[in-house]
Amino acid sequence: MLETISNNFYSIIDPPNKDEILLNAEISKLTEDQEFSWADYCSIKVERLDLQEKFFPLFAPSLNIFFNELNLDANDLGIYCDEIWRNTYTRNFYQEIHNHSPLHLSGVLFLNDEQEGDGRFFFFNRDYSEVSKEWRHIGLLSDRKYIKAERGKILLFPSYMLHGVTIHKSDNIRKTLAFNLLFSTV
Ligand SMILES: [Fe+2]
Repeated sequence: MLETISNNFYSIIDPPNKDEILLNAEISKLTEDQEFSWADYCSIKVERLDLQEKFFPLFAPSLNIFFNELNLDANDLGIYCDEIWRNTYTRNFYQEIHNHSPLHLSGVLFLNDEQEGDGRFFFFNRDYSEVSKEWRHIGLLSDRKYIKAERGKILLFPSYMLHGVTIHKSDNIRKTLAFNLLFSTV
């Protein structure tokens, strides 16, 4: 049986309270603080949402599914929502490859179904540079893993994973909600 060894993983969760999450993501007020230390490196519109108090009532069911899939006990992690914001992509917006370290767990809630020409979320395989051309030619791995946006689905992944969004080449308005979580093991 083939096995792989990797610390890269993700899950796409179909939240049981999807309608409630979508409603809150779309009607949420913004916080007063709209400064983003990292936004200068992006070509997207970002808006910090006033959802931190509602975060766990909204997202705990999805986090429970995620940690159950991992067969990990998250009850004593003291998970804290560090930041939650909305991304809006119009034509030619994109997100360069980056990670969310030193945060621990990151999530993306897709607010649209992906359409032709839309920017596409992808994970970047940082180890791909070590794969020789012969292995590449016979199709081993790829440097990117694309995730198709589906409205209401939540993508969860460790914050150290490299990811980005390709250039948005359509006139659709592409929106996502994103968040970063911290937890403690002491
Ligand atoms: Fe990101």
